[in-house]
Amino acid sequence: MTKVYPPERVVGAFSEVRMPQALDREYPYRMSEEQRALRVGVLGAGPISQAAHFEACRKAKNAELYAICDVAEDLLERMSAIHAPRKAYADYDAMLADSNVHAVIVAIADQFHVPMALKALGAGKHVLVEKPMGVTVEECEELCRVARSTGLVVQVGTEKRFDEGIAFARRFIREEMGEMLALKAWYCDSTHRYTMTDAHQPVIEASDRARRPEGDPKADLRRYYILGHASHLLDTARFLGGEIEAVRTRLVEKFGAYCWFSEVEFADGSVGHLDLTIKVRMDWHEGFQVYGEHGSIIGKTYNPWYYKSSEVECFSEKDGSYRRPLGADGHFFRRQVEGFADTILDGAPMRGANAEDGIAAMRGMVAMVRSTETGEAVRLSDVEGGV
Ligand SMILES: NC(=O)c1ccc[n+]([C@@H]2O[C@H](COP(=O)([O-])OP(=O)(O)OC[C@H]3O[C@@H](n4cnc5c(N)ncnc54)[C@H](O)[C@@H]3O)[C@@H](O)[C@H]2O)c1
Repeated sequence: MTKVYPPERVVGAFSEVRMPQALDREYPYRMSEEQRALRVGVLGAGPISQAAHFEACRKAKNAELYAICDVAEDLLERMSAIHAPRKAYADYDAMLADSNVHAVIVAIADQFHVPMALKALGAGKHVLVEKPMGVTVEECEELCRVARSTGLVVQVGTEKRFDEGIAFARRFIREEMGEMLALKAWYCDSTHRYTMTDAHQPVIEASDRARRPEGDPKADLRRYYILGHASHLLDTARFLGGEIEAVRTRLVEKFGAYCWFSEVEFADGSVGHLDLTIKVRMDWHEGFQVYGEHGSIIGKTYNPWYYKSSEVECFSEKDGSYRRPLGADGHFFRRQVEGFADTILDGAPMRGANAEDGIAAMRGMVAMVRSTETGEAVRLSDVEGGV
């Protein structure tokens, strides 16, 4: 299904708008301010798009929700009625053939990420792919290779990098903290999680016609939790602490709860501890501590659907005081789209996770799982396959 809206709804003249091309081309494009919006096509009208991406694109200062695509036409109709994109496609190839689509947000099941992201690159579109980047190291590397060869932007949707509190902590580490000694990070989903998210998210519409990978992804909960949650934990740990060389992980399973404790070796010689626990019998519990040469950091991160920036305190030995950002803008998903658009439209440095970061997180997840199998420390550079 392709719905074409009357021309008066179309802002600006498409013919004058140049498609964003490889980053080494000339910037900025000759567009009016009105035209300088990244036209985004969102693939997938499932829960994450309904709770985050549609609104993020609509609120973004430099992007537009240009198209929505979902094979489930009932869902497509309902989401189009709410969010009024210019186009609605039931067929992904048709959306990709639309030359007005500059970039695609790939918001579908993990197993489909890489194949559909590759298709988008093949059609000359930039890609923001949901986390995890893929389900095996090899397919993530393939996506990275193709992104490099096309020069198109590939960003991975670990939106916590756009949490103002976490970004503040990273700046403090780089600019004031000096050498790192140790980093601890925890990501503990709560037994009360759905009560909390239901209170904040819009009503999530479902369809029997939605396309899902074969089999039940929740049949193997360990794999499901690692892909869904360790992808965030590892990305935040790397965003703050830098490259991870190796992990040694223990998994304990009791009363339906899973606890992965990982001892981490950072490339700079620092030590780390990562705690992934699903589900803790208390509130959502996520955060980090960093100890450095001239200061230390404590951060508390909220359930993302509260749209509240992390509470972060950075203590500086320089003046013996704490620095604490307000982080008034907690819309990480909107900020993520804006960062993505800044990179594409203006060649701004990518603030989100790039394809290499996506691979590193994938390697980290695989290393954690291999380590639980052997009890040994596993180097991220040595792993292959999936979790
Ligand atoms: N960043 C975050 O914090 C966060 C949070 C939740 C979920 N996610 C990620 O978002 C992704 C999507 O999650 P979801 O729960 O919305 O998924 P979902 O599978 O429930 O919904 C995906 C939708 O995409 C459609 N679809 C799939 N393949 C298609 C195709 N080829 N053409 C057209 N339509 C297609 C399906 O019909 C479905 O409606 C997952 O990878 C998940 O890990 C990220």
